Amino acid sequence: MAVIANHCPEIKVTLVDIDSKKIDAWNDPNLDNLPIYEPGLKELVFKLRNKNLFFSSNVDLEISQADMIFISVNTPTKLSGEGAGYASDLKWVESSARKVAKFSKGHTIVVEKSTVPVRTAELIEKILRSSTTSSNESSKSFSVLSSPEFLAEGTAIRDLEAPDRVLIGGQDFESINILSGIYERWIKREKILFTNLWSSELSKLTANAFLAQRISSINAISALCEATGAEINEVSLAIGTDSRIGNKFLSAGPGFGGSCFQKDILNLVYLSKYYGLNEVANYWEQVLFLNIWQKKRISSILINRFFGTVTSKKICLLGFSFKPFTNDTRESSSISIAKDLIENGAHVVINDPQVSKKQISRELGYQEEKILDQSEGLWTFSPDIMEAVKGTDAIVVVTGWNEYQNLNWQNISNLMRKPAWIFDTVNHIDKEEIKGTGLNLWQLGFGNRNFDN
Ligand code: UDX
Repeated sequence: MAVIANHCPEIKVTLVDIDSKKIDAWNDPNLDNLPIYEPGLKELVFKLRNKNLFFSSNVDLEISQADMIFISVNTPTKLSGEGAGYASDLKWVESSARKVAKFSKGHTIVVEKSTVPVRTAELIEKILRSSTTSSNESSKSFSVLSSPEFLAEGTAIRDLEAPDRVLIGGQDFESINILSGIYERWIKREKILFTNLWSSELSKLTANAFLAQRISSINAISALCEATGAEINEVSLAIGTDSRIGNKFLSAGPGFGGSCFQKDILNLVYLSKYYGLNEVANYWEQVLFLNIWQKKRISSILINRFFGTVTSKKICLLGFSFKPFTNDTRESSSISIAKDLIENGAHVVINDPQVSKKQISRELGYQEEKILDQSEGLWTFSPDIMEAVKGTDAIVVVTGWNEYQNLNWQNISNLMRKPAWIFDTVNHIDKEEIKGTGLNLWQLGFGNRNFDN
């Protein structure tokens, strides 16, 4: 919305949320307190806030004044009831649609921005249509479009400025042209794709499933590299230069995280089963199984390097966000790896340049310094890297933050307890910098490269 406001100064963009605390944070005079860290966003909010970009918790009033409404609420995986663990929970989409039905005036274009299961637009349409018949408000009308968002976190502004494509699904040409006209202010029309509603909804799930599948594929090969003596970066390069395969999304790592991939694949699996396509469901579910296995595999390798036990070992985890340049920790591999180590009795010291202690505590489910009953493991937070590594037996690099490159490894080695290990799960560290420092190195997907000093 900030990017739209920036390109369309004559359009008034208002973000509404029923959570007034969130809105207060977006209106905070101190821009460092914005709820989301995203490169370039703070500058846009600074430039546009209270000019043509507004944040309000007066949801009903803003709906009544809007010509176009983007439903951009979260659609988490259902935790209970029919489809629990797989299907998306659409309660927020539904309650948003009900509010729009109740408070809108005149003709309103409703754009489904949230990632949703196929045919959700039908649900939205039904709710909206029932309001026009039940309240006898003949002047009220709606047009529902689907326009899924393909931006990635950390590069959101860049992705929105120069997207590979914008997708608009629907059948009402007038509304489609209005929405397309907004994007055409800065995006060439050739990059705007028009489909029917269901293709648009399914394309979003499919795009995420394909991206996640590439990561699971390369992660599967990383394990084979370690077993055979091949090197994962060489294999990635060799296959990525085939233009049919392409070189993006071929970085092996500790498994994908983030709010989308797992949720959307679960959704796809549920949808396939719902239509009786069990083979299709099993095929996609395997992408998730591999991802879970990759995280577990890393914890096991680490524990095995310490001869089967990390009890009373102090281990530093570098990086807690699910990838660099974001403070989002949803489904981050760090959560699974940290929990495994703590449950095996380790003291895990966590460092991240953007994630707060409070956030880590929420994700791990227990507080800092609280000793886990059976295992005696615990975690602490250290915002300073050199403090974090002090007295540790191992460092695990989980997120590829710039802060973890070009560190003085000799100084770090001097602070660690020997024998000391570096486990680099994102291939972020130059092995030449480790040589001669007295540190042992393990890098994901390298059969021959790992060495003991
Ligand atoms: C993803 C999609 O990329 C985006 O199009 C969609 O709109 C939302 O979901 P996001 O979750 O923000 O975006 O991050 P992405 O950059 O796709 O990374 C997801 C995870 O995959 C991260 O944990 C990342 O570290 C991992 N990843 C990515 C790899 O392990 N290897 C790669 O080569 C690329």
